[in-house]
Amino acid sequence: MGKYIVAGGKRLNGHVAVHGSKNAVLPIMAATVLTGAQSVIHNCPDIADTRCSIKILRHLGCDVDYDGYTLVVNSANADGIALPEEAVNKMRSSIIFAGALLGRFGVVDSAYPGGCLLGGRPIDLHLQAFCQMGVVFEDALDVIIGKADKLAGARINLAFPSVGATQNIMLAAVLACGTTTITNAAKEPEIVDLQGFLNACGADVRGAGTGIIVINGVKTLMPAEYTIMPDRIVAGTYMVAGAITGGHISLSNVRPPDVYPMAKALSNMGVDLWGEGEMLVLKSGGRLKSLPRLVTKPYPGFPTDMQAQFTALLATTSGQSAVEENLFEARHAHIAELAKMGANIELVGDSRFIINGAARLHSADVTAKDLRGGAALVLAGLNACGETTVHNACYIQRGYVDIAADLCSLGADVRLA
Ligand code: EPZ
Repeated sequence: MGKYIVAGGKRLNGHVAVHGSKNAVLPIMAATVLTGAQSVIHNCPDIADTRCSIKILRHLGCDVDYDGYTLVVNSANADGIALPEEAVNKMRSSIIFAGALLGRFGVVDSAYPGGCLLGGRPIDLHLQAFCQMGVVFEDALDVIIGKADKLAGARINLAFPSVGATQNIMLAAVLACGTTTITNAAKEPEIVDLQGFLNACGADVRGAGTGIIVINGVKTLMPAEYTIMPDRIVAGTYMVAGAITGGHISLSNVRPPDVYPMAKALSNMGVDLWGEGEMLVLKSGGRLKSLPRLVTKPYPGFPTDMQAQFTALLATTSGQSAVEENLFEARHAHIAELAKMGANIELVGDSRFIINGAARLHSADVTAKDLRGGAALVLAGLNACGETTVHNACYIQRGYVDIAADLCSLGADVRLA
């Protein structure tokens, strides 16, 4: 499983380039199944989740080459329809292949993706939408077997702006007969990136980034070349690394609108941020101010994937802060681990945290329980004097290409053991 050893107490000072987005590339990798042609995808991050998706693509019969940055997928010979159970169990988001398989072959066969530490992670919105498009599912408990003679466009209103459901509908709709309209669609930048890739392949998708997405089905898709957007959560994580150490750092490959919610929160805490050419510069000094209320919401609200990192940061400020997690019913496994480092955080119910800032955290032996909670523990280790060990490095490696090397380029002392 591996562990990160963090020698904390240093003010960070340095520069880092942010890598490609996990949550943009995963649905785009699924989309390559739709084209039956070659897709060339640049800025594909070399993380555990993309390596898992490469295995799925090969399992489905695609030819895949990857050099750590550029991914080349040829789905001409893809004929598989059954998603490998091991992949579905390991990576919940592999359910994003369902829309592509239904769109290309009209069939999907997958184990039911389990929940995780964040919560139940149901897929009812995905399945309801597919049914509206003409898919008929067998009545089974632990598998998803769905068939459609020909997918038909539909008007789909999402009860909740689910990112995955929005993406799965887009994938199923691009080759369907007629027009599909999604209302109350998720607006995340990763949805816009998926639209960009699909249209580069010859699809007709409009409105991504707004709450209404319209997809006019086309007959065929073609070869495409595309560059993935930078990872806004990795960027936000490194912004917090600068803030939690009172550092002065710069980041490149950051799109300001993508990180606006995090930049606004940091500015309210007394951190200075400004743009210098293509770079985002962050300077943090002295004891940061607490935040009376930090609430996670669907984009353009404050992202749930930054909640754990900000919870760690708020644990080091003066005064009391409150955090409300609205996206997942159990995204708080990092709190017990932060408490081992001296953080004073009271969990009210399952989704509200009262954080009483401590002067400084202290080093400890802690364990990552999920991807972003694990990253938050590494950040807490940067603040604490002494050596902090963060076990279960594999969780963090799902979403960060090399968090140790990136933080070391900012002047930290972090190593993987
Ligand atoms: C995506 O997950 C991201 N993952 C998550 O990032 C992110 O936290 C989440 O969107 C919210 O922004 C990827 O893109 C691979 P949702 P997804 O469907 O699509 C409920 C990370 O750390 N829901 O928007 O699974 C669900 O239970 C990961 O990078 C239903 O009830 O998120 C949750 O409470 C973690 N029924 C809420 O909606 C459904 O059918 C948000 O889920 C689908 C979702």
